[in-house]
Amino acid sequence: MKRIAITGVLGYSGRYIAEEAVRRAWHVIGITDSAGRLPNPHGYELRPMPWSPGGEHALDGVDVLVNTYWVRFSYNGRNHAAFSHTEAVEHTLHLFSAAKAAGVQRIVHTSITHPDAASPLPYFRGKAQLEQALEENATPHSILRPAILFGDTPAESILINNMAWSLRRLPCVATFGFGENYRLQPIHVRDYAELAMNEAENSEAHRIVNAVGAETYTFRDLWKMLADGTGAHRPILPVPDWMGLITTRLLGAALGDVMLTQDEIKGLREDRLTVDGATPIGSRVLSAWTKEHASTLGRCYASELQRRR
Ligand SMILES: NC(=O)c1ccc[n+]([C@@H]2O[C@H](COP(=O)([O-])OP(=O)(O)OC[C@H]3O[C@@H](n4cnc5c(N)ncnc54)[C@H](OP(=O)(O)O)[C@@H]3O)[C@@H](O)[C@H]2O)c1
Repeated sequence: MKRIAITGVLGYSGRYIAEEAVRRAWHVIGITDSAGRLPNPHGYELRPMPWSPGGEHALDGVDVLVNTYWVRFSYNGRNHAAFSHTEAVEHTLHLFSAAKAAGVQRIVHTSITHPDAASPLPYFRGKAQLEQALEENATPHSILRPAILFGDTPAESILINNMAWSLRRLPCVATFGFGENYRLQPIHVRDYAELAMNEAENSEAHRIVNAVGAETYTFRDLWKMLADGTGAHRPILPVPDWMGLITTRLLGAALGDVMLTQDEIKGLREDRLTVDGATPIGSRVLSAWTKEHASTLGRCYASELQRRR
């Protein structure tokens, strides 16, 4: 039986990729720093990350590595453990080197739409740095570039769920500017997991796939679709970015979370979460999913920081 190591196996997309791998008769090894912190209901073999104590041999005997490890934003550790993009880049470089040293035959790496080495945004710059490192590493690989994921449950689809939560709980919602010239192309995490496993089984040396779904929304249209789907209609006000940022910061502080960062707003505004002309992956679309989950979507706030406790 072939052996696949998956980072983030107890997290979000990694968990779905592991399920898909098992369905395809792979032996799954979860590479994680969350053993004991998060449940392991499928009883995967777990090993520490290569940079953690005891993780030196994490990739021994592994045929394929699927990497989902990353942090959404940098956090100073005021109320929870600190983390940063700089650290995430260093750790991932370590992971790639460990894979090469262990003789891993293929790496499937999760990146982002429009990574950019010249960007002042650490998320997009860090992802570009990692793509470059993978080129230099010379292990055959696939780089997958999703824009935004949604999953089986609203609680795990944090950004979409919290937009619906805002519609239900706030007197009005806002777009940064008019919200009509920047877009998002969501992909369902099961479609993403199938793609990741197709790439794990691919033998081409070097592949890059834009992992975007079949629907494209402007930010304003996303609010409208979520309002129609949930029946929670609110005025959608165009506001300057600074005002949107202050509002999300105040809401985040009240909720004990980071709702949206300044860099995330900038990334959105730069229209980085869509790829013109990309072939859509999968068949599950957000509009149908919203209707299916209309009764639960946005009923509870989903906290990013709470997930890391
Ligand atoms: N979710 C989206 O909408 C989205 C959109 C575009 C691109 N992506 C990309 O898709 C990949 C996977 O995303 P995901 O949402 O599935 O990730 P995730 O499950 O939130 O995170 C993957 C793993 O990274 C580690 N990690 C995450 N946050 C961390 C933190 N604050 N401190 C320390 N470790 C942390 C955890 O490893 P342990 O469990 O081992 O601790 C976690 O399981 C990422 O590369 C991301 O950039 C995601």
